[in-house]
Amino acid sequence: MSSLLLLFSSSCSLLLLLFLSAPCLKVLVLIPTLEQLISSKETALTSEKGRWMSSCYPCHVQIFSPPYSDSKKLIYHLKGCQGLGNKGSSPFTSVVSAAKVCGAAAESPSVKRLHLLVADKDFSFKAGQWVDFFIPGVSVVGGFSICSSPRLLKQERMIELAVKYANHPPALWIHNQCTLDSEVAVRVGGEFFFDPQPADASRNLVLIAGGVGINPLLSILRHAADLHRDRVNKGSGYEVGTIKLFYSAKNTSELLFKQNILDLVNEFPEKIACSLHVTKQTTQISAELQPYITEGRITEKEIRDHISKETLFYICGPPPMTDFFSKQLENSHVPKEHICFEKWW
Ligand SMILES: NC(=O)c1ccc[n+]([C@@H]2O[C@H](COP(=O)([O-])OP(=O)(O)OC[C@H]3O[C@@H](n4cnc5c(N)ncnc54)[C@H](OP(=O)(O)O)[C@@H]3O)[C@@H](O)[C@H]2O)c1
Ligand SMILES: *[C@@H]1O[C@H](CO)[C@@H](O)[C@H](O)[C@H]1NC(C)=O
Repeated sequence: MSSLLLLFSSSCSLLLLLFLSAPCLKVLVLIPTLEQLISSKETALTSEKGRWMSSCYPCHVQIFSPPYSDSKKLIYHLKGCQGLGNKGSSPFTSVVSAAKVCGAAAESPSVKRLHLLVADKDFSFKAGQWVDFFIPGVSVVGGFSICSSPRLLKQERMIELAVKYANHPPALWIHNQCTLDSEVAVRVGGEFFFDPQPADASRNLVLIAGGVGINPLLSILRHAADLHRDRVNKGSGYEVGTIKLFYSAKNTSELLFKQNILDLVNEFPEKIACSLHVTKQTTQISAELQPYITEGRITEKEIRDHISKETLFYICGPPPMTDFFSKQLENSHVPKEHICFEKWW
């Protein structure tokens, strides 16, 4: 077992080296090898008990851990997740791409934000998905939800991540060692996404976020805003319904991306609204934030007031929060297919 791990980690670094030294090399060639590695049960690649590993076990199916560890389970996963008119995306067809850090900044006292330039033109993702994050020299693979929109990737070849400090090798690396021009590799995964097609029926969205759980929901919010802009400009395309974001964090400095969120609310006041909650605020809230902030947790009642037949619910936050709201919605007879959640474990 330990020799297997050793063998594994050395071939993994070799692979990474290959990617990083030849970014234009088509990864298709390499994927089978990588998949073999990843699907072997003992791999260190799928992080240990990994509450961090690929954060999501969405859409009512939480039967496999770690992810991708067993192809039978994987198939079950893909089938089990009917994802709201979405077509499943198989991790086996996902591209592993080299990526270079092209921006890094503190988003809050505990969260660092990264922009990555993605090398492979075949790399793509759907709003809400995560990336496996391969770091040269670090044997544990990170799993981080993408918070940028698919459009930023199309237009600028960039994705954005926001990672909370934790005692976990990939997070530690991001907080302590990662610099501009650091090179990593990324691969998309996850069944928690919003990807409506032009002719799909218009839906309202209710997004419920806790802490760093804002990441995939911000991607969905940004994507919906892009779709709405298209519709306004071209008069065709998917018709976005209303979107309501409920977002709870400890305090106003831990409310990530608040300015980006408020900018979208102000750009599309008829479409997008938000309710920001703080639960451990110890200082005065600034006058410009005040109108959007409620002190105390998001309540069941607020959510219930948004239930309708046309509404899809996306939930991402600490597991007790996710459980609580998905149960509440089920108890209120929202069909399971309209409740999508992503949980850390
Ligand atoms: N992927 C990552 O980047 C990462 C990093 C570290 C940890 N994690 C995992 O991600 C989870 C969230 O991390 P975080 O530190 O960002 O969250 P957090 O700061 O602990 O919580 C975020 C917000 O969710 C609220 N909340 C918690 N439980 C709730 C419930 N049952 N009902 C309603 N609101 C609830 C909290 O309110 P209260 O203050 O009242 O609890 C707080 O306002 C953790 O459970 C951890 O396992 C993920
Ligand atoms: C919010 O909490 C963090 C960590 O607990 C702290 O560093 C920060 O100063 C707090 N910010 C505000 C505005 O209270």
